[in-house]
Amino acid sequence: MRIVSGIQPTGNLHLGNYLGAIRNWVRMQDEWTAKGATCLYFLADLHAISMPHTPAELASNTREMVAALVSCGIDPDRSILFNQAQVPQHAELQWLLNGTARMGWLNRMTQWKDKAGKNREGASVALFTYPVLQAADVLLYQATHVPVGEDQKQHLELARDVAQKFNNDFASEEAPVFTLPEPIIPPEAARIMSLRDGSAKMSKSDPSDMSRINLTDDADAIMQKVKKARTDPEPLPGEVEGLAGRAEAANLVGIYATMAGVTAADVLRDFAGQGFGAFKPALGELLVDKLAPMAARYRELREDRAVLDAVLRKGAEKARALAVPTLDAAYAALGLVR
Ligand code: TYM
Repeated sequence: MRIVSGIQPTGNLHLGNYLGAIRNWVRMQDEWTAKGATCLYFLADLHAISMPHTPAELASNTREMVAALVSCGIDPDRSILFNQAQVPQHAELQWLLNGTARMGWLNRMTQWKDKAGKNREGASVALFTYPVLQAADVLLYQATHVPVGEDQKQHLELARDVAQKFNNDFASEEAPVFTLPEPIIPPEAARIMSLRDGSAKMSKSDPSDMSRINLTDDADAIMQKVKKARTDPEPLPGEVEGLAGRAEAANLVGIYATMAGVTAADVLRDFAGQGFGAFKPALGELLVDKLAPMAARYRELREDRAVLDAVLRKGAEKARALAVPTLDAAYAALGLVR
């Protein structure tokens, strides 16, 4: 098993990232590395330059994201933790895969459509070819499993299409160059929604900080954000079916369930008939309780730049060693003489 996933270092780690992806990163590391699997987790700093950015912020966000991931339980001795910029094989493989990916496939990507908006002519080329780099990220390591939130599913499907076409065009069924990766999406936390709008995902690009809970939020901020979260006036139902059409309520119940490690049905059994006046403080306390130890580790770690840089250096060294054989095979399959 090869488990590979990435996160953009474009600001704070929020609850959507944590519940949608990072918790699974940690769980898979804890479960599978002992059985011989390899986990590679990286900061997608090359992806981060597809949107306007401030170089000094990218550098500090990269180090802060390493600190955040380690605080959440990623252990650099068991997982390979690195940033793309120190593993040039990612960008190299992307170029090779640009020959296989089709314009039509990229044109269909919803993230491209959302982020480019009406101004496609003004969007960066990197934003358009972003999914090809993402395909390179996972194919480079022969990833078998990719833990992500629901919003990355389409990109993973593209990675599978690229792998399949490349294998068909330039390799044989008996000796494929690339493995087709499986996305691993947590059913209960596939899409954590904004606290202000049950129809928008929780996101670091939302201008309102009240829409998300950040790993760096203190107890007061968390309680305040949960208290102010948008809800409806109805009490909580006794069954999951009763959450249909109540996006905000469903989101808060989903967050509670995932955080407590129970199902939404379990939560509703305990809170059936109660209003948000009772449920919100309970949710706030649960979040404070679970996030506080991670936040405390984070505050300590983020100050230690030398340690964080050393983690990335060591991770990149291991990643490069794993990347080289697949990259070599891709060059050879394409008939490129080196
Ligand atoms: P990014 O940085 O936007 O998000 C990192 C991870 O967090 C998940 N996520 C969510 N899950 C549930 N609810 C939410 N509201 C929510 N918001 C974010 C994302 O699905 C993701 O798993 N393109 C990727 C980074 C990337 C990558 C890769 C991922 C680059 N190469 C290769 C996997 C494999 C991104 O921008 O994620």
